[in-house]
Amino acid sequence: MKLLIKKVVGVTFAVITLSVAVSLTHATRIATASFDGNAAALFKDKCASCHGEDGTGNTPPGKQLKVRNLRSAEVQKQSDAQLSAVIAKGKDKMPPFEKSLSKEQINQLVAHIRSLGKK
Ligand code: HEC
Repeated sequence: MKLLIKKVVGVTFAVITLSVAVSLTHATRIATASFDGNAAALFKDKCASCHGEDGTGNTPPGKQLKVRNLRSAEVQKQSDAQLSAVIAKGKDKMPPFEKSLSKEQINQLVAHIRSLGKK
């Protein structure tokens, strides 16, 4: 009898620990997904070589390819769907990123471009 109680307590404890761990990982994932610092790092890594870290396109390849300033009205007036389509599918010299980035990451990058436009 004593042994059974010990077992039940042990299993209950394990279940509680597991569910706490699962909800913690979940919470961290949500927190990172909405944290713009993440998108900024991604932008710096994948996009800044042409578009510049500040989005102005003031880099040697950016100037050569004549990229538009991502902060300009011409770019900012486009819808989120239009901007994410260019990032996913590419356009002329702009490489497509649909294979290397998730939809979620592309959406974060669009949000990041919006935040650059407000600076
Ligand atoms: C090899 C250089 C290069 C890289 C790297 C690059 N782009 Fe571009 N991007 C371009 C060029 C060139 C254009 C202009 C395409 C056109 O309209 O002819 C462009 C256009 C765009 C546009 C549309 C803006 C407009 O001109 O209307 C967006 C949005 C954009 N890029 C976002 C990104 C994001 C986000 C990344 C990183 C995931 C990225 N780009 C990486 C070269 C690049």
